Amino acid sequence: MRSLLFVPGDSERKLEKGFASAVDVLLIDLEDSVAPQNKAPARTIAAAAIRDRRASANAAIYVRVNDLASGLIDDDLAVLMAAAPDGIMLPKAEGLADVERLSVKLRVLEAENGLEDGATRILPIVSETAAGVFAAATFGRGSSRLSAVTWGAEDLSAAIGARATRDQNGRYTELFRLARSFTLLAASAADTAAIDTVFVDFRDTAGLRAECAEAERDGFTGKMAIHPDQVAVINEVFTPSPEAVAEAHALVDAFAAAGNPGVVGIGGKMFDRPHLRRAERLLARAKTS
Ligand code: COA
Ligand code: MG
Repeated sequence: MRSLLFVPGDSERKLEKGFASAVDVLLIDLEDSVAPQNKAPARTIAAAAIRDRRASANAAIYVRVNDLASGLIDDDLAVLMAAAPDGIMLPKAEGLADVERLSVKLRVLEAENGLEDGATRILPIVSETAAGVFAAATFGRGSSRLSAVTWGAEDLSAAIGARATRDQNGRYTELFRLARSFTLLAASAADTAAIDTVFVDFRDTAGLRAECAEAERDGFTGKMAIHPDQVAVINEVFTPSPEAVAEAHALVDAFAAAGNPGVVGIGGKMFDRPHLRRAERLLARAKTS
């Protein structure tokens, strides 16, 4: 899961383009990019697109439903679960309790639609409300449905009343960096992947690349996109480079050759168990990208 592309669920044209892109995960949106009067048609259009195109699609297919308090989520799920998406993105999630509430709904709908129990994965957005940020610690309990966690800045800024999410240099302000960091911690506590939030200036490729590189450095393993042109850059930056893969192999081999000790020296530098674990994680990522 390197790249995840949002596609408004009420746009047949964008759905067609999304399915044609080289993205790892399509995020078919029923929430913020769909106007209230379009919610019902969007469900039908999105479900039909999944049915018609999934056989020829390489991407995993996720649906972003409306949040648990919206009064819309049950209708979203009733229509979309019949099309058996690979996963559901849950916006404004406030801790693992909300993931568990969604799990209960999915379990019923899986049974009703003849799907395997537990087949539908959940990808929560964990930082869109203050309560969501505070509840990040609850992800330590884990859930077998979690496929990753991600974060968003816009809804949190609206909830807080912040006028901007970034400073004059384009850097996220303290509050949003905190939410971003809590996302990394929640992912680690839940032993799942952390996905970075969207970069909305879709013509600014250099800016996107820099933000991807920073996210990859910090432990995110993928990033969401809002425009098909962003997918190639995201895939590139989040695919471990041949040099990084070779370095990780060398480290794993050195530990094995030394009889798997706690620590080895390579080229005058010390490497211990956390370095080994990091190398193994990188190799696992390289295998799936
Ligand atoms: N998925 C699929 N196709 C998309 C797309 C997306 N997210 N964004 C743009 N496209 C398509 C356009 O339809 C257009 O196709 P066409 O030329 O065949 O009509 C082509 O890519 C080029 O689009 P462009 O003109 O560069 O952008 P735009 O002005 O049409 O769209 C946005 C800009 C921001 C409205 C659009 O990118 C979008 O809807 N993004 C997703 C928004 C979203 O889901 N937000 C919620 C999560 S934050
Ligand atoms: Mg939102």
